[in-house]
Amino acid sequence: MNKYNTIAPIGTDMGHAQQLLASGGVVAMPTETVYGLASNAYDPQAVSQVFAIKQRPSFDPLIVHVDSVTHAQAFTAPWPEAALELAQRFWPGPLTLVLQKKSLIPDIVTSGLCSVGVRTPQHPLALSLLQQLPFPLAAPSANPFGYISPTTPQHVQQQLGRHIPYILDGGACAVGLESTIVGFAQGQPVVHRLGGISLEAIEAVVGPVSMAVQSPGALPTAPGGLSSHYAPTKSLQLGDLDRLLMQYATQQVGVLAFDRLCPQVDAEHQVVLSPSGSLVEAAQRLFAALRTLDALPIDIILATPVPDTGLGRAINDRLGRASSRISK
Ligand code: TXA
Ligand code: MG
Repeated sequence: MNKYNTIAPIGTDMGHAQQLLASGGVVAMPTETVYGLASNAYDPQAVSQVFAIKQRPSFDPLIVHVDSVTHAQAFTAPWPEAALELAQRFWPGPLTLVLQKKSLIPDIVTSGLCSVGVRTPQHPLALSLLQQLPFPLAAPSANPFGYISPTTPQHVQQQLGRHIPYILDGGACAVGLESTIVGFAQGQPVVHRLGGISLEAIEAVVGPVSMAVQSPGALPTAPGGLSSHYAPTKSLQLGDLDRLLMQYATQQVGVLAFDRLCPQVDAEHQVVLSPSGSLVEAAQRLFAALRTLDALPIDIILATPVPDTGLGRAINDRLGRASSRISK
């Protein structure tokens, strides 16, 4: 789909973004997690453009963005107590709650599910858009389906620039990983996707939570639940670096390193996520690092898991999905 002859400009014209959205168009907007491809969540026609532009399968539901709990309650059934506690603690922020929807939300948004994913983003431009528009915004990450999520306006422009009219410039995303998604079973929180709010932080509010189990090949109930996702074009191998270096000794390798360069590999073919060993910084830089490596003259990307605590769990989840890519 090559709709526009020119590449979408990157700018901060909020009036233009509002006007495009109000007339049923699609706009790339910054959030604190990743850039989103926004449309009027109440307008099925507008939402269908988002699926087309992303080449996203219709069975993968979108997240609806709102400016407050009050607005979310306009299109959701009464909330479990734990949902209210989590929203009060983490909104605005990188937490999506899966709640029962009312018919105000068209089926296309939720892929026919009775539930809807909702969140209030913590980015001044996204919040200001949401406060000024008379409707919520359905917005998936602004990348072609299956590729790495964008964390800068330039990432969006490179991949979707010819398919959208405007990219709202909010700079680089502060969190860098998509939201954590929490649903509820008999009122009890269930984590569907790890993301920008750590499991530890959620459990500090609502006590121990379970993780949703995804059966292989099942449609996502789902949350970024497809096993091959968030993937670069190049093959990514995840594991012990020394073993991987031996295994791929005959190939040009690139390394995604956590806190220090790997001495056996050319420094120009490596990206260090956080020299100080910060998982927060590593999360911020992860997707840009994968894009950088994807563009280098290398055959394969090698990566080792980061420490599996806090945001490290979500980083490892994304690395795992990036490595299970089915070859294209
Ligand atoms: O941080 C984020 O969540 C970003 C920004 C733009 O808000 N959005 C994002 O959207 O990552 P997306 O579409 O790339 O991923 C949303 C995931 C999808 O994989 C979808 O399966 C899941 O949320 N989801 C949405 N609605 C759901 C529902 N009703 N039940 C279960 N999963 C749902
Ligand atoms: Mg996505």
